[in-house]
Amino acid sequence: MATTSATTFSIGSTVSFGSRGSLLPKTKPFAVRFTYQNSLASFSGLKAATSVKCESESSFLGKESSAALRGSFVPKAEKANQRSHYGLQPLASYKVAILGAAGGIGQPLALLIKMSPLVSALKLYDIANVKGVAADLGHCNTPSQVQDFTGASELGNCLKGVNVVVIPAGVPRKPGMTRDDLFNINANIVKTLVEAVADNCPDAFIHIISNPVNSTVPIAAEVLKQKGVYDPKKLFGVTTLDVVRANTFVAQKKNLKLIDVDVPVVGGHAGITILPLLSKTKASVSFTDEEVEQLTVRIQNAGTEVVEAKAGAGSATLSMAYAAARFVESSLRALDGDGDVYECSFVQSDLTDLPFFASRIKLGRKGIEALIPSDLQGLSEYEEKALEALKPELKASIEKGIAFVQKQPVTA
Ligand SMILES: NC(=O)c1ccc[n+]([C@@H]2O[C@H](COP(=O)([O-])OP(=O)(O)OC[C@H]3O[C@@H](n4cnc5c(N)ncnc54)[C@H](O)[C@@H]3O)[C@@H](O)[C@H]2O)c1
Repeated sequence: MATTSATTFSIGSTVSFGSRGSLLPKTKPFAVRFTYQNSLASFSGLKAATSVKCESESSFLGKESSAALRGSFVPKAEKANQRSHYGLQPLASYKVAILGAAGGIGQPLALLIKMSPLVSALKLYDIANVKGVAADLGHCNTPSQVQDFTGASELGNCLKGVNVVVIPAGVPRKPGMTRDDLFNINANIVKTLVEAVADNCPDAFIHIISNPVNSTVPIAAEVLKQKGVYDPKKLFGVTTLDVVRANTFVAQKKNLKLIDVDVPVVGGHAGITILPLLSKTKASVSFTDEEVEQLTVRIQNAGTEVVEAKAGAGSATLSMAYAAARFVESSLRALDGDGDVYECSFVQSDLTDLPFFASRIKLGRKGIEALIPSDLQGLSEYEEKALEALKPELKASIEKGIAFVQKQPVTA
């Protein structure tokens, strides 16, 4: 996979890139500020105002993301306004499917995606109880059409023509369980669903939420390979929640404005494989050794914090839905031609000696345009050690996923 050498990188202020060895950085404001009539905020149906100042707090994505989102979509929004009655039609016509849409993550995720101005069709699939979710959601006065699909016989129809498939299907953890304990159930679910994706919408971006992500993404890759439709640029393990948590905890700890904070999180999505690179935090902030240790451990165990608080009723659902919605929105912006879309994700990678690795990536119309290596350069001693320490566990999880599909090949 192609990689770029990014000289400096920051989200929320400016983005400066140079190609390998080049001193021609492209610097461009990431968050564009403006005011306009009939904003995307009112488009979401949450706000009746006809004039909204966009630097204020009006999107489910948060100020930072929403500023970027609006920055990238204003011209289209205005064009769409001229063409049609604003609010009756979406600003773009992407189709998104959620597989596992009736679950703890699936339902709030569906709601957040229903609020996106970029979605024309929202297709909800589950093995049970999805009709009610779709009927409920369909009453929201936002433009996308909601459709429901129940059971394996309707899966193919759900997936036809879809641009982005999000997969939160499967069982969540209970107290005392690791993500790997979910492998036996979720591996099969992900394998079956990705087989259907391969058959019905092989060009779609695929977002894998189902745990253990460190294994389910390699499972998905192997299925797609066996089906002859694997495009590593379009397969993503959703690790956005790790970034969301890292940003929240760092902002709280250092009393920073959330909009200023961006912490890249690399590695994988389980325990010590989750590695927040606190030394690369934007805005510039320093941490004591104790703070680094305490924040790193908290970010790594944040999922368990929620599992224990829910005491048997599941794992993170609302924060996960928020994080997944952000990743969907970023993907749609990239598909729509926004040239400044960066997220962390667990993807096929050559940044380390592991075949899959979470890092910051640049998203474009065709999926991953570049892996961003600069976050991994100049690590602190603590991060260097943690990076080496996570590799054996991450490698074993990746191999477990690949072996699972190789032992029971996909159906033709
Ligand atoms: N990537 C992350 O950061 C992250 C964070 C939190 C949870 N998760 C994972 O997300 C998954 C879902 O969590 P949840 O809390 O929504 O669980 P949940 O049990 O509330 O919902 C799962 C849904 O999947 C459906 N389902 C089961 N088998 C299916 C199949 N074969 N096809 C379609 N749908 C199917 C169920 O009917 C249910 O509606 C879990 O594996 C959990 O570990 C990932």
